[in-house]
Amino acid sequence: MSFIVAIDGPAGSGKGTVTEIVSKKLNLTNIGSGAAYRCVALATIENNINISDTNKIIDLLDKINIEYKKENDKDLIYLNGIDVTKRIRESDVAKIVSQVSSIKEVRFKLNDIFRAQAKSQDVIMEGRDIGTYVFPNADVKIYLDASIEERANRRLKQNEELGITNMSYEEIYNNIKLRDKNDKEKEIGALKQAEDAIYIDSSNMTIEEVANRIIQIINKKRA
Ligand code: DC
Repeated sequence: MSFIVAIDGPAGSGKGTVTEIVSKKLNLTNIGSGAAYRCVALATIENNINISDTNKIIDLLDKINIEYKKENDKDLIYLNGIDVTKRIRESDVAKIVSQVSSIKEVRFKLNDIFRAQAKSQDVIMEGRDIGTYVFPNADVKIYLDASIEERANRRLKQNEELGITNMSYEEIYNNIKLRDKNDKEKEIGALKQAEDAIYIDSSNMTIEEVANRIIQIINKKRA
């Protein structure tokens, strides 16, 4: 049986960065579920499909190939053979991704991909419904939270590091607020803390402090 770590939480809570650090330190394969939803959103844009045209988005699923790759110690995501790691962080994708992720057929397809990845290897997965729905029997479940202001600041910094400069603090703040609402009110796959998840508020913690705390929790469970 593989060992599964589920990290859930809202946009900008630090899940992505923390998961990357923990995955490297503990040699767990990092499967970013948000990135997969972003790939479907990007494919929707590239195929000029209107976000309200659910059937067309569902049809698109058969033509989408998503691959997680590690190159030079970097976690990359490929959509139909093209590296879209940076592209999926841009604002046009961010705007529609929550709506795309509300389509249940999209969730079923991506959940199949995630579960298949975890069959043969120890994984750490970050997302919204990993501990509640994708892997309800995960060995370790963390719910990572932070204030909206802090999360908007972090996303702004992350964008700068990626060379994305066309989104203001206000735009990011409003995007996060809207996505929180969508994410929490979604009919399926809603963002929710699993009953047996450990709650961590990272507002006043450094990324390293959060990562170390999670590593401690995992090591205790693995011992
Ligand atoms: O973590 P992120 O910001 O990259 O996530 C992008 C979007 O995908 C976000 O709006 C919520 C959605 N998502 C989801 O519905 N379920 C997941 N397990 C992960 C992300």
